[in-house]
Amino acid sequence: MNINHKGIHSNKSITPNRKNMDKLQRMEMYNDRNLIVDIKELKKSYSDVGDILSILRGINLSVGYNQSIAITGESGSGKSTLLHLLGLLDRPDDGQIFYFGQERSFDDKNVFSFRNRNIGFVFQYHYLLEDLTACENIAMPSFIKTGNWKKSIHLAQELLRKIDMIDRQEHYPNQLSGGEQQRVAIARALINNPKMVLADEPTGNLDQKHSEEVIDLIIQLNKQHNCSLIIVTHNKDIAELMQRHYILDNGYLEKTK
Ligand SMILES: Nc1ncnc2c1ncn2[C@@H]1O[C@H](COP(=O)(O)OP(=O)(O)OP(=O)(O)O)[C@@H](O)[C@H]1O
Ligand SMILES: [Mg+2]
Repeated sequence: MNINHKGIHSNKSITPNRKNMDKLQRMEMYNDRNLIVDIKELKKSYSDVGDILSILRGINLSVGYNQSIAITGESGSGKSTLLHLLGLLDRPDDGQIFYFGQERSFDDKNVFSFRNRNIGFVFQYHYLLEDLTACENIAMPSFIKTGNWKKSIHLAQELLRKIDMIDRQEHYPNQLSGGEQQRVAIARALINNPKMVLADEPTGNLDQKHSEEVIDLIIQLNKQHNCSLIIVTHNKDIAELMQRHYILDNGYLEKTK
């Protein structure tokens, strides 16, 4: 029920007609297509024996093409939670996530294929499949996308050359060093040429030397592959290497650079 200009209650009045309504809905659904990802007022809480832990209280972040962003923050501040939401690996309580101008959600029917094609993940622990060789591990996301094993292996070998590990292609993960395993995980994240790479403490398990090697590689591949990078790290030197730096504090992102 609305009140029209004569002050008379009416059921018709200012309700948009169906055509306008569709247009309004479309405008809400679509966002800036020049951004890879745009998140608005993202919220996430967990319940903990009766208490509600409000972890993300209203996160806004826009990422264009070829950008690099660092997110730091105290342990438990919600950095991994945020990356999981950004990667459509979990459902927010509230807020919206747009990829390439279109709203996307964990609940979308095609979310698995969308992630496989557009988002590369690198975690603190590499999660390589132990029964597959380095080359096969890298090839797997491409095989899932294309169904073409021979072509996927060929692409994986090209990446192994880029990361200077072609001579290790037949090695299984337990036959590789920690730094080598992480380089393989990075190559695996890039094989489908994703526009966005999400990295959660990719050097967390590595010593200084291997950590620097892995970061150099991420930055170099980030440029070569024209993708944007969001990296969560406790390391201030790594954060400094990124174009933008945010701190996650008390449920909000604060920009420092
Ligand atoms: N599934 C869950 N159920 C309940 N609480 C959770 C769950 N996942 C995370 N939390 C809580 O949410 C908070 C944020 O966790 P998150 O893993 O995002 O932190 P983080 O910033 O990545 O920390 P770290 O730097 O230690 O990796 C923590 O207090 C954690 O205990
Ligand atoms: Mg974490």
